[in-house]
Amino acid sequence: MANTQATLEKIVSLCKRRGFVFPAADIYGGINGLYDFGHLGYLMKENIKNSWKKSIQNDLGDIFFLDGTLIGPHAMWEASGHISNFHDPMIDCMNCKKRFRTDDDNINTEKSCPSCGIKAWTNIRDFNLMFQTQLGAVADESAQAYLRPETAQTIFVQFKNIWSTSRTKLPFGVAQIGKAFRNEITPKQFLFRMREFEQMELEWFCKDETSMDMFNFWVQKRQEFYKSIGINMNHIRMYQHPKEKLSHYSKCTFDVEYEFPFGFKELEGIAHRGTFDLTQHTKFSGKDLAVFDQETAKSETPVVVESSVGVERLFLTLLFDAYHEDVMDNETRIVLKLHPKIAPIKAAVLPLVKKISAPAEDLYKELKKQFINIDFDESGSIGKRYRRQDEIGTPICFTIDFQTIEDQTITVRIRDTAAQERIKISQAATYLSKIIS
Ligand code: GAP
Repeated sequence: MANTQATLEKIVSLCKRRGFVFPAADIYGGINGLYDFGHLGYLMKENIKNSWKKSIQNDLGDIFFLDGTLIGPHAMWEASGHISNFHDPMIDCMNCKKRFRTDDDNINTEKSCPSCGIKAWTNIRDFNLMFQTQLGAVADESAQAYLRPETAQTIFVQFKNIWSTSRTKLPFGVAQIGKAFRNEITPKQFLFRMREFEQMELEWFCKDETSMDMFNFWVQKRQEFYKSIGINMNHIRMYQHPKEKLSHYSKCTFDVEYEFPFGFKELEGIAHRGTFDLTQHTKFSGKDLAVFDQETAKSETPVVVESSVGVERLFLTLLFDAYHEDVMDNETRIVLKLHPKIAPIKAAVLPLVKKISAPAEDLYKELKKQFINIDFDESGSIGKRYRRQDEIGTPICFTIDFQTIEDQTITVRIRDTAAQERIKISQAATYLSKIIS
């Protein structure tokens, strides 16, 4: 029997075939761990980001946004601990020259190389994952800089400026969506582990005495987010890091894990970071990052609760979760059952035959003004056009046929069930609003 489950190969193929994701510099053979997003991929990423921005709004405190720089100076990364600690254990096979991450690739140095079968290992070395660069022409330490491996640190180093310009009080959050770069030893599983990716991070600043309540609040709220964007919660589990594995500054860390075909893996991390980051930057910069509390008339360094998820990792998760195959009209149909909020195209307008394109084009133009991501397709059989929309996750199709000319009604065709109903053409916008709200 054919395998109708989503596999990595099927997802990679669909992404390229339909214009979601392409290997970077594809005509030069691609680059490991780097990907470009085509039209549909871009639209879907925007939908993910917009849903995330909405999901972090809450009744406890304000949320402010930051768009920080991608490059940071040596001192900043020294303070954050990334220069001394942000590395993975690396080993090379001297025979086939393949490089592995000993922990993640399960390398046993007593055994032979899983690639060539020869046992010829180098020593295990620590490999720092940050991309280093140099600012300007001077080659001393003051010019040394790094592409940020997480967005969080730009929030911490701007904490004082954000605090003094926002007229807010604790607790409050600073959120950022932006690029992060990691020179991963073995990028793999398509968008799961990349070298250039985007993070959506929230740093929640609060008082020490309420910090565990705040932590629990965000653990709960982040799960609600995944439910709200249609992820099957049977595939989600919360993994609590054991005490002995926590960073010395963290009281508690949970990973939101998703069950991929390659096992349960981290989708998002939620961490109680204590006062570590602000204290470190105070020490290294010499600038006091404590805030004055009017109620207690005391200065205090806020505690941070962080939630962090990769845009592309969530993108991949959503594709795996939405991918279905069924049989329709004796043919295998691939359908992405994406939540309408996430679907890149919200509706397609399809004239049954080219002869009646004019009223279809009018409806398309009308809907496009309001919803932007609307498709129009008049070529090929109607069945083939439905299949194409199913495969890119378009929730509904509006079909204009000969009856439309007579009574101003159109067919609405629903993606998940292929069920059809007839509505007035004047009701199309309202119908669509209800579906995507
Ligand atoms: N500021 C905390 C932080 O960066 P992390 O666990 O290293 O923590 C957070 O990363 C999230 O960023 C991960 O849960 C994952 O969703 C995403 N992420 C991390 N490394 C990634 C990579 N190489 N490719 C794609 N996404 C990645």
